[in-house]
Amino acid sequence: MTYLEFFGLKEDPFKITPDYRYFYPSKTHRIADNLLNYVVRHGEGFCVIIGEPGTGKTTVIRKFISSLKDNVIYALILTPKLSPEEFLKVVLDDLGINIKADSKHDLLKKFREFLEKKVSEGKKILIIVDEAQNLPEETLEELRLLSNLETANEKLVQIILLGQPELDEKLKLPQLRQLNQRITNKIRLLPLTEDETFRYIYHRLAVAGKGNIRFKESAIKKIYKYSGGIPRIINILASRSLMSAFMTGSFIIKPENVDAAKETLNPDMVVSNSLDLLTKGKILIYTLILANIVGIMYLLYRLMF
Ligand SMILES: Nc1ncnc2c1ncn2[C@@H]1O[C@H](COP(=O)(O)OP(=O)(O)OP(=O)(O)O)[C@@H](O)[C@H]1O
Ligand SMILES: [Mg+2]
Repeated sequence: MTYLEFFGLKEDPFKITPDYRYFYPSKTHRIADNLLNYVVRHGEGFCVIIGEPGTGKTTVIRKFISSLKDNVIYALILTPKLSPEEFLKVVLDDLGINIKADSKHDLLKKFREFLEKKVSEGKKILIIVDEAQNLPEETLEELRLLSNLETANEKLVQIILLGQPELDEKLKLPQLRQLNQRITNKIRLLPLTEDETFRYIYHRLAVAGKGNIRFKESAIKKIYKYSGGIPRIINILASRSLMSAFMTGSFIIKPENVDAAKETLNPDMVVSNSLDLLTKGKILIYTLILANIVGIMYLLYRLMF
C-alpha cells in the first residue's frame, strides 16, 4: 500500500510543482492576483512582483493566466537569460507573430503596427517574464523601449515581471533609473502567517481529495516555525511528515513527524538553522565589542598608572 492509498488521497497534496489548481488565496497572494487583474483591466503598463524563492511567484502567474479571457494575448518568457535581440524574437514567437524585417528599427515598427491593430480589435497584449532576476541589464533596457509603445491615450502592451529580490536590486541600478520610473506597480510577496499556514495545509488537502488526515495544531506550529511560512518549504515538510506518519501507521500528524521530516531537509532550508547562524553572528560581534572595550580600558589603565 502506498502512502496516498493509506491516507485515501487522489494525489500528493504537497507536490512542489507550481500547480494553480492548488492556489490558496493568502493575503499576499490575493493582493498579487488583484494587482495583475487591475493591470490588465486598466492598461497600467509596467508591473513587478518580487518574492524570495518559494513564495509563490510562478503559482500566482499560472493562476492568473488560467483565468485570462480570449481578449488577452500573452507571451510568457520563462528563460530570460536572453540578449535584447533574442528576447524580442522569443516574445514575437510566443505571440505567434511572424514578422520579416531588415533591421531592428523596422522590426519594432512592424511590431507596433501589429499591436495597434490588435488593440483596435479590443485585444490586450501582455509580456510576462518569470525569473526576471536573470534578465541581463541590456534586455531590461529593451523592455523599457517596449513599454514606450503607446498611442496618445493608452499603452499598447502591458509588461509583468516576476523575480527574486535580486531583480529589485537590479532595477535600482543608476543605469536602469529610467526603466524603474516606468514601473507603476511593484509589490512583494510575503511568507504566510501561522494562521494562513494552517489554512493553506488544509486547503491543499481538500484539493487533493482530503482523505482521513489530521494535522495536530502543534505539528502545524512546528511546520510554520521551520518553514518561516514559505510555501515551498511548508510543502516539503508537510509531505515528509505524512510519510513519517504513514511509516508509524498513524492518520494523525504529530510534532514528532515534523521533526523527523525536518531531519531529512537540506539544513539551509530550515529557518531556525539560519536564525541560529544569526545568533552566532550576533554573539561574535558582541564578543568583539567586549574585547575592544576591555582593550581600551587596559590601555587607559596603563596610561593613567
Ligand atoms: N498561494 C499558493 N497556493 C498554493 N500553493 C502555493 C502558493 N504559493 C506557493 N505555493 C506552492 O509553493 C511552491 C513554490 O511556489 P512557486 O514555485 O510558485 O514559488 P516561486 O516564488 O516561483 O519560487 P522561485 O523563486 O524558486 O521560482 C509550489 O509547490 C507552489 O505550489
Ligand atoms: Mg518560480
